[in-house]
Amino acid sequence: MQVFLQLGLGLVLLASQYAPGTAVPSSGCRRQCGTVEIPYPFGIDPGCSLAEGFDLSCKVQDGVQKPFKGAFEVLDISLTEGTTRVLNYILGYCYNTSTGSMEYFGRYAGFNEGDPSSPYRFSDVQNKFTVIGCNALILIYDFDATGYQGLGVATCRNLSDLVDGSCSGMGCSQTAIPKRMYYYDIAFSEIVNTSEIWEFNRCSYVVLMEAAAFKFSTAYVSTNKFNETYDGRVPMILDWAMRDVKSCDVAEQNKTGTYACLSSNSKCVNSTNDQGYMCNCTNGYEGNPYLRDGCKDVNECNHNPCPSDGFCRNIGGEYQCSCGLGKKYIQKSNTCNTNIVLTIGVTMGIFGLMVIIMFTVFCGQIIMQKRKLKKVKQEYFHQHGGLLLFDKMKSEKGLAFNVFSEAELIHATDNFDNSRILGKGGHGTVYKGILKNMPVAIKRCAVVDERQKKEFGQEMLILSQINHKNIVKLLGCCLEVEVPILVYEFVLNGTLFELIHGRNQALQISFSTLLRIAHEAAEGLSFLHSYASPPIIHGDVKTSNILLDDNYMAKVSDFGASILAPSDKEQFVTMVQGTCGYLDPEYMQTCQLTDKSDVYSFGVILLEILTGQLPLKLEGSEKQRSLSLIFLSAMKENNLDAVLASHVKGQESMELLTGLADLAKKCLDMCGENRPSMKEVADELNRLRKLSVHPWARLDIETNAENLLGGESTSGYEIELSGYPTGESEDLPINPGSSYYAR
Ligand SMILES: *[C@@H]1O[C@H](CO)[C@@H](O)[C@H](O)[C@H]1NC(C)=O
Ligand SMILES: *[C@@H]1O[C@H](CO)[C@@H](O)[C@H](O)[C@H]1NC(C)=O
Ligand SMILES: *[C@@H]1O[C@H](CO)[C@@H](O)[C@H](O)[C@H]1NC(C)=O
Ligand SMILES: *[C@@H]1O[C@H](CO)[C@@H](O)[C@H](O)[C@H]1NC(C)=O
Ligand SMILES: *[C@@H]1O[C@H](CO)[C@@H](O)[C@H](O)[C@H]1NC(C)=O
Ligand SMILES: *[C@@H]1O[C@H](CO)[C@@H](O)[C@H](O)[C@H]1NC(C)=O
Ligand SMILES: *[C@@H]1O[C@H](CO)[C@@H](O)[C@H](O)[C@H]1NC(C)=O
Repeated sequence: MQVFLQLGLGLVLLASQYAPGTAVPSSGCRRQCGTVEIPYPFGIDPGCSLAEGFDLSCKVQDGVQKPFKGAFEVLDISLTEGTTRVLNYILGYCYNTSTGSMEYFGRYAGFNEGDPSSPYRFSDVQNKFTVIGCNALILIYDFDATGYQGLGVATCRNLSDLVDGSCSGMGCSQTAIPKRMYYYDIAFSEIVNTSEIWEFNRCSYVVLMEAAAFKFSTAYVSTNKFNETYDGRVPMILDWAMRDVKSCDVAEQNKTGTYACLSSNSKCVNSTNDQGYMCNCTNGYEGNPYLRDGCKDVNECNHNPCPSDGFCRNIGGEYQCSCGLGKKYIQKSNTCNTNIVLTIGVTMGIFGLMVIIMFTVFCGQIIMQKRKLKKVKQEYFHQHGGLLLFDKMKSEKGLAFNVFSEAELIHATDNFDNSRILGKGGHGTVYKGILKNMPVAIKRCAVVDERQKKEFGQEMLILSQINHKNIVKLLGCCLEVEVPILVYEFVLNGTLFELIHGRNQALQISFSTLLRIAHEAAEGLSFLHSYASPPIIHGDVKTSNILLDDNYMAKVSDFGASILAPSDKEQFVTMVQGTCGYLDPEYMQTCQLTDKSDVYSFGVILLEILTGQLPLKLEGSEKQRSLSLIFLSAMKENNLDAVLASHVKGQESMELLTGLADLAKKCLDMCGENRPSMKEVADELNRLRKLSVHPWARLDIETNAENLLGGESTSGYEIELSGYPTGESEDLPINPGSSYYAR
């Protein structure tokens, strides 16, 4: 059934075939026609287009330049979309009231029969086959190319049924078309005509047009306003592409040939509507990809794509955003976020650096201080004859002698705590200390002068070499302090001084015990004198320097005044030592300390034992102050009895006592040469002991030991120059030039 009137009304797109050329358009080509831009591959002048299919004509209409593709006016060209917008003609089918017949209006715009090599295709996406009317049935078909055949139907019974803007069958309809169409025919159905309803709907219209440009109005049905509004032509979109090859794959294989994408940074894009390809600039570039170097870098930073608090940097094809210090660019949200890691890192870094610097400075100071301290300690070490000692120690290997560090001794004495003090004297203070779980006596000098410094070194040298049961053993020393510290064996049972002079305790001590102690002390001193050549001289022999151990065995201590027999003349002058009452009168004159000086002092000790008297008394005439003078004058008068202690007289035989007195007298001889040697003194004492009535009595004072030693604060380490217990009124300052010694 042939219901459609075939008018031969068709639209055939464009006469010219696609005939690609490689010629680069000259700069003389016009790129503008009226207000419309004509970019290559299009051209309006000869040789200015890529191919014949892209040739446009620039015509003047109503005094205005307008580009045309054939009969179609070109509104604009998009390179990026590959589209051209043209004006298509509205076709009308109207009832002529005067003739009573249906008539056609509009322009047949097609030329050649369809040509698939044409660049153009009707955009299936943007165009719609649009029909307006209340009794319209229109066929659009493309039998030759795509075989398409579509119907456009629009009906209505009453205008009041129609709605503005709604084009969906009632008075208006829009129908999609397929891809690949470059040609179509239109036929109105003769049977479905407006002859009956011409009073409100005289014309039916049909056009293929850009859907976006159409908005239905009910007036379009009852009047010819549709044609009037658009002036007979409506926009329509054409897709154009290079149709000479099927797709980009093929096109890109022949880049030396007809490949149209000449620009660098351009790419090939498959045509979405039928075969062929288009060109496009790659991302970040814009311009004309069909021209050499037509794609220009886009300066994205011009429209500031980065966060407002960030920075933009344009680079080839793209851009980079960055953020300020301590912030991190988050591409996902296009924001600058505080970079916690970086911030922490930087903070930690700075902090760490400061710590390192402070640490370095701190360490430096500590090292400096340590060096300084070490230097000071070394200086002290030198001053105290440390090198001399070490030389000696080296030469005499196997010496049981330790050099302690200051820290060790501080630890051993609870930092020289007052509760540890055993005794105090002019020379220094003696502390009880614990070293290696053993009690020791630690002697620390209180006052320093050059002489005392030397004393310490000497004492150490002497004592470190001496190993005798009646001499206090020196365990070690510490030289790295201002005042040398000596570590002695701990001897705890007091001194001979206490035994003799301690608060009437002498009554309870057997004479034989005192005698034994004196003998042992004499053995010790004898050993000293014979130990080396020249002899070692004690220099300060007195009862308070004779210590007593657990078994009340004598231990000679305090070699502070000791010297190896001096070879230095100057030493004779400067070394004034010893204790008042014990001092060798010859030494006072010659200033020469000899082993016989010790013998003299020992004679005084014998006197103390015999008389129970102190070597010096404060009361009485000058002659009666010195025990030795009293004794010697008594001996001269053969009146020994007068000076002997009362308890002694009863205890021992007169033979022993006179022997002892004789020995003392010899010791106290004014002329040193006449005195016996210490060895002879010891031997004589040994002989005399055998005369004792209680030769075996040893510890007869043990029962009273508590009473004896508990009462007095003095210790075995008393090193008073005066030889008297600390704090007692008998304390005498040393005054060698005084009349106590002068004769
Ligand atoms: C060409 O590139 C632009 C921007 O990169 C894009 O908008 C456009 O859709 C592309 N054209 C085609 C045909 O792919
Ligand atoms: C539409 O109007 C134009 C002139 O504006 C005229 O040439 C054309 O024939 C009209 N078409 C119809 C269908 O009325
Ligand atoms: C109707 O037809 C007559 C005769 O052909 C013509 O003169 C007249 O203009 C037509 N009317 C319209 C409205 O087209
Ligand atoms: C209109 O259609 C009717 C049939 O529906 C037909 O009889 C009439 O001839 C047609 N008029 C014209 C002018 O074609
Ligand atoms: C259209 O409808 C209106 C009211 O809805 C009515 O008055 C009018 O007569 C109708 N016209 C036709 C042709 O049916
Ligand atoms: C490449 O292009 C040249 C020139 O246009 C043509 O002769 C040749 O056949 C093409 N080759 C391919 C593989 O398309
Ligand atoms: C282009 O089309 C061809 C064939 O249809 C296809 O093989 C190729 O992958 C397409 N290329 C792109 C970039 O889409």
